Amino acid sequence: MVEETPWQQALRYANRTNPYPFYEELRKTPVARQPDGTYVVSTYREIVTLLHDPRVSSDPRKGPDPASAQAEASAQAEGSGQPEAEPSIITCDPPQHDRDRRMVTPHFVGPPHSPDLIAGLEPEIRRIVDGLLDHMRGKTRIDAVDEFAYPLPVTVICKVLGVPLEDEPRFHHWIQTALDAWEFGPETASEDFQSRLAAGNQAVQEFGQFAAELFDRYARQPGPGMLSAMVNEDGPEGRMSKGLLTSNALLLIFAGHETTVNLIAHSVLTLLRHPDALEKLRRRPELIVPGVEELLRFESSVQFWPTRSAVKDIDIVGTTIPKRAPIFLAYGSANRDPEQFTDPDELDLERRDNQHLGFSQGIHFCFGAPLARLEVQNAVGEFVRRVENPRLVEDPPPYRRNQIFRGPRHVLVDIDGIRD
Ligand code: HEM
Repeated sequence: MVEETPWQQALRYANRTNPYPFYEELRKTPVARQPDGTYVVSTYREIVTLLHDPRVSSDPRKGPDPASAQAEASAQAEGSGQPEAEPSIITCDPPQHDRDRRMVTPHFVGPPHSPDLIAGLEPEIRRIVDGLLDHMRGKTRIDAVDEFAYPLPVTVICKVLGVPLEDEPRFHHWIQTALDAWEFGPETASEDFQSRLAAGNQAVQEFGQFAAELFDRYARQPGPGMLSAMVNEDGPEGRMSKGLLTSNALLLIFAGHETTVNLIAHSVLTLLRHPDALEKLRRRPELIVPGVEELLRFESSVQFWPTRSAVKDIDIVGTTIPKRAPIFLAYGSANRDPEQFTDPDELDLERRDNQHLGFSQGIHFCFGAPLARLEVQNAVGEFVRRVENPRLVEDPPPYRRNQIFRGPRHVLVDIDGIRD
């Protein structure tokens, strides 16, 4: 039997609870060619270098199999009666990326369009967090994912975008089905994966159809939120085409909560595993701001990003990444790189100069970082303050299947009560 590479081992579901020993091995070869021709970059310095290198594309149509990337987009559009999908901002390059990001951003962060949109959400975020914690009164055991980490970000993103919260069960199902089918590595050879893949493609189509119907409704009758504004308002760059609207709306609905759920869930899990840090945060609540950055460094919600490729041969640390080769940037590994972070496997809520890659860097730097920070700081800060004597029931907890968006499926916690 051929021995698996550290990256292949890290990808295995059985290792989802702890991929870090494999990352440590992987960093011995900062740019490691995999048997399938993918180049996995695992060290901080090399990832930052490539994030700023214009020879690296984020557009799958420039990757090893442009025909299949295009065919996939066409097939999905054909089945759904929708306009052909165009790449969202996360899967395209300048100048399109910069133009499209300029079209989307004013509706989200302003100024001058909507200067207080994100900061103005804080009272509502606090109300939701308080409501979720109040609801735990009288219980002795809670699930910190289902009862806390999930409902906050999903409620907030629905409000920001103007997606009816009643539709949450439907899009939750599509997103989970699609995520279960987005897999890399040795386990994609299984029959089980083939059936997940078929279900995933179907879910993406239905999700796209849902977004298109929402746009039609908002085109007939404008409503609250960002999606209606994107449909109806012209910016300096004009109005977005239907294909662009759809791909970016799906990205925002999905990216706007999935990653935040995993960060809140991992923050609770990590603090319960580090009672000294939990106690420190209880005594010094102001540490929540650097604390959330450290929690994101420690357990990155986006472990790697898989759509990049080389548009030209790239020489880096003694390796040549050939033109069209896929490049995976392993943020989860870079965030534990001892060349960049002192004692990277230690959780230090007061860590100085914490330039982690949890939100990436460069032109694709996370668009939603200000919102994510506000949500996680409020949620984790209040959890620490109000939950009495929280104890982990199961360690490690069960993990979700997806490798990119790594996070626990449930985190059961025994509690003594909820403070006011
Ligand atoms: C803790 C929560 C979050 C984490 C850890 C996170 C992480 C990331 C990362 C690592 C990227 C870069 C991917 C790459 O190209 O390599 C990214 C991009 C992006 N994120 Fe987030 N994200 C979070 C929350 C959000 C939220 C709340 C939103 C929307 C409201 C959002 C929207 C986006 C978008 C639209 C992009 C693409 C930006 C571009 O390509 O220009 N994210 N995020």
